[in-house]
Amino acid sequence: MRKITIAIDGFSSCGKSTMAKDLARELGYIYVDTGAMYRCVTLYALRHGIIDTDGSINLLKLEAEIPNINISFKLNKETGRPDTYLNNVNVESEIRTMEVSSHVSPIAAIPFVRSALVAQQQKMGEEKGIVMDGRDVGTVVFPNAELKIFVTASPEVRAQRRYDELKAKGLEADFEEILENIKQRDYIDSHREVSPMRKADDAIELDNSHISITKQKQWLIEQYKRVCGK
Ligand code: DC
Repeated sequence: MRKITIAIDGFSSCGKSTMAKDLARELGYIYVDTGAMYRCVTLYALRHGIIDTDGSINLLKLEAEIPNINISFKLNKETGRPDTYLNNVNVESEIRTMEVSSHVSPIAAIPFVRSALVAQQQKMGEEKGIVMDGRDVGTVVFPNAELKIFVTASPEVRAQRRYDELKAKGLEADFEEILENIKQRDYIDSHREVSPMRKADDAIELDNSHISITKQKQWLIEQYKRVCGK
């Protein structure tokens, strides 16, 4: 069957990554979590004193450091899913902390950060056979993707999911803090000047607030078959 490009965009913590990873595994496609890439830049900036305690970002320093930020993904044989590596060190857990979550949106709004990461993402998808999730995959990274999905869910449902995820990993979690962070990121992500999050005109919208993971999987495979069966 011909290989296609699948773009899954939408709000934070609405299960995009889980659905994208599962779909990629099912189809034998490459999976790329673009949010993890913005999180890596944020982690690097935090570790190198590029983000001040008041949240301000040293743009000159960050721009100079961009060539030293090397992001890659390697399959974790235990989970069967790819882990994120920053300069060859596995940072899959570190990039999911609240500290990174609360600084990532301003970093993702910086034009030179976006252009550097978008160029890498486009290179990863040159051969097609890829499922990529993020905010601007269907609009900016792959505007010609054959299948585009835009996922939404209510902020409360998303906060509960992120809370459960952190707790399951044994990490600290406060529901109200997570909810506030989600609302704040929704706002910044959809109001920034460069590539704001928006549904591509030809994307299919999926509100998964009340859909089981199994149902969602079936629905996604149906969408894939519909496109590939053409
Ligand atoms: O999906 P996530 O929560 O891991 O994304 C982290 C942040 O990165 C989020 O605040 C929005 C931003 N992001 C983006 O601007 N563009 C993307 N393609 C992916 C994520």
